Amino acid sequence: MARVQGKVAVVTGAAKGLGEAIALRLAEEGATLMLGDIDDEALTASAENCRAQGATVETLVGDVTEEGPATALVQGALDQFGQLDILVNNVGGSRNSKIWEMPVKDWDYTVKLNLRGTFLCTRAAVPHMMERKAGKIICLSSGAREGTPWTAYYQGGAAYSACKAGVHGFIRDVALELAEYNINVNAVAPGPIDTVKAGANLRELNETVEYSPNHMTPLGRLGTPREVADAALFLASDESSYITGHTIAVAGGR
Ligand SMILES: NC(=O)c1ccc[n+]([C@@H]2O[C@H](COP(=O)([O-])OP(=O)(O)OC[C@H]3O[C@@H](n4cnc5c(N)ncnc54)[C@H](O)[C@@H]3O)[C@@H](O)[C@H]2O)c1
Repeated sequence: MARVQGKVAVVTGAAKGLGEAIALRLAEEGATLMLGDIDDEALTASAENCRAQGATVETLVGDVTEEGPATALVQGALDQFGQLDILVNNVGGSRNSKIWEMPVKDWDYTVKLNLRGTFLCTRAAVPHMMERKAGKIICLSSGAREGTPWTAYYQGGAAYSACKAGVHGFIRDVALELAEYNINVNAVAPGPIDTVKAGANLRELNETVEYSPNHMTPLGRLGTPREVADAALFLASDESSYITGHTIAVAGGR
């Protein structure tokens, strides 16, 4: 029996990077998927990869930091598949600057990208999950929730770190709110992961600076998207039924 067989999952930001890897891992383990992203072309390719694993997949192009598209993504899963078991709030990212130089618009952009979509999609999903007294919500935090040397020293990452600590706070509270409804709410906190986008910057830092990801990470290497997806899969599966309000670090020991 596959680990999420018969489950319906929504994954945000599923076209590329960790969202793509999480969608694929859920597909490999039997989930039916509603995938969302703003990148139409890449989303189509990601959905095809999941279908190649035998999964039934629908997609919706839209910005989940806005109320309409976030609600439509969740409602799309309910309309198409009649249920929603798993929500992966993956969308996030950063515009980095040293704190004394950070433009207000970059601060606001980062806060909105990491927190607003997570809130909107969770709010849209939980009434259905509460009614069924079942559900798994997985959010993407980061090792940055406790500060990241290679970002802080060289690029500045206070907005991003604040948001990813915010994700941890969000799942702590929402897990308590939803515990009586048997809904598990957890986060995965990746360290430096070799995605197409983040990996280029991380590899350059490895070559050029003292406080580099490899140097500061006990396992001494970048993580892979699949290693993050495996943790998300665990939290999405019944194997994690007694875990809620927890942030799992997938960060090579940092
Ligand atoms: N890659 C890492 O090393 C790393 C480390 C720690 C945490 N994270 C977190 O993991 C998550 C995924 O990171 P990633 O590196 O895969 O990012 P990425 O930028 O490679 O991919 C993000 C995906 O989300 C989509 N997207 C962006 N904004 C969107 C929006 N408003 N609405 C819908 N889709 C949108 C993009 O098109 C893209 O497909 C983020 O929350 C990130 O903060 C990543």
